[in-house]
Amino acid sequence: MRQVLLTLAVLAGLGLSGAVAVVGLGLYNVSAQVGHLPGVSWVLHTTFRNSVKLRAPSMEEAPDLQDPDLIALGAGHFATACAPCHATPDSRRSATMRAMVPAPPRIRDAIKHWQPNHLHWIVENGVKMSGMPAWPATGRGDEVWAVVAYLEALRSDARPEAPATVPETEPQRYCATCHGPVDGPVPRLDIQTPAYLEAQLQAYLSGARPSGIMAQAVSLVPRDSLSELARHFAETPDRPAPPDLDLQAVSEGEALAQRGTRDVPACLSCHEDGRRGPPLDGQHRAFLAAQLQLWRDGVLNHDRVMHAAAHDLSDADIHALSAYFAGR
Ligand code: HEC
Ligand code: HEC
Ligand code: HEC
Repeated sequence: MRQVLLTLAVLAGLGLSGAVAVVGLGLYNVSAQVGHLPGVSWVLHTTFRNSVKLRAPSMEEAPDLQDPDLIALGAGHFATACAPCHATPDSRRSATMRAMVPAPPRIRDAIKHWQPNHLHWIVENGVKMSGMPAWPATGRGDEVWAVVAYLEALRSDARPEAPATVPETEPQRYCATCHGPVDGPVPRLDIQTPAYLEAQLQAYLSGARPSGIMAQAVSLVPRDSLSELARHFAETPDRPAPPDLDLQAVSEGEALAQRGTRDVPACLSCHEDGRRGPPLDGQHRAFLAAQLQLWRDGVLNHDRVMHAAAHDLSDADIHALSAYFAGR
């Protein structure tokens, strides 16, 4: 017994001094030119696959991934956030990206072996020590589904195009690839004042209002263009939402917005005639529903009164209120 313990102690000592030598003396070669030692790539990849499959969200949380607005939004984000590494389906990765270890795979190869919920986990969390970044806002898994919808659309022959613009030199055109052509989760800006829009852009920039999509967008345009962009988009007419046919929801929403309940304050006490909250009339329904959920769940809390107002909303209330304000 003593012999066994002694042998184990000697082995542990050897292992430890080996590790100290590798770390302390710089014996491990970190060069990206030589790749991994035999077997290490296999271990890393197998760990990656199993880790993703264990943690991926349930598909029951997914929205309709065939929604054209969701796909267009995902395409817009992909163009500036993912294409620099993975390229678009029609372009090539740069020589420098191909020299990364591991190299970012071409996007069609990247999605080949994954289900939509696996892709969601990878895009939200990134992959440690590989260069694959996490989503640049926390608590915004709802936004990640837009990118997944775009990736899923790439599997079919209908290849949605990622818009190409140069945000640094033509910021207005860049913003207008989403605001205007895309409805649903992308808000209308023409119902707001320039001051409100500019405050929101600053909040996205600082992270006070978390959104990976808008954080990416504001990080690309020149800082001193924000107030001009706010003015421009407040003045550029956009289409109103189509009338909502869910009349039951609309009338429930109306009652709640006008009178409130014991737990929910009347929305119109703030959201009418420019009192305390921004205008909501004619805003896109999917955007309203998503924002109300985020306020309720505390992901958005940069305004205390609005967070408190949404605190006790049920899913049915949110459905009704978004239908009401969208059609108002
Ligand atoms: C800075 C470069 C970089 C950016 C930006 C980037 N990726 Fe990646 N991505 C990588 C690398 C490197 C890997 C390979 C990770 C590995 O094999 O361990 C990867 C892996 C992936 C995978 C898994 C691929 C596989 O073969 O299993 C998917 C899916 C993916 N990325 C999608 C995206 C999407 C969508 C975006 C944009 C939101 C994005 N990536 C942004 C570098 C990047
Ligand atoms: C890839 C699509 C996309 C691009 C490009 C984009 N936006 Fe957005 N924008 C969105 C989405 C989606 C939201 C909702 C984000 C959220 O959940 O807070 C949003 C929200 C906003 C808001 C907040 C509106 C409100 O009522 O709260 C403003 C202001 C805005 N965007 C302005 C801009 C400007 C200016 C640019 C160009 C620098 C831009 N956007 C580029 C998709 C985009
Ligand atoms: C006490 C005043 C107050 C009440 C009551 C209130 N809100 Fe708000 N709401 C605000 C303020 C202020 C903001 C803007 C926060 C910011 O600066 O981003 C806001 C923001 C919002 C937004 C985000 C709009 C956008 O373009 O990003 C939505 C949606 C919203 N409120 C819906 C509602 C609904 C629905 C109700 C009723 C259940 C309600 N609010 C009740 C004050 C209020």
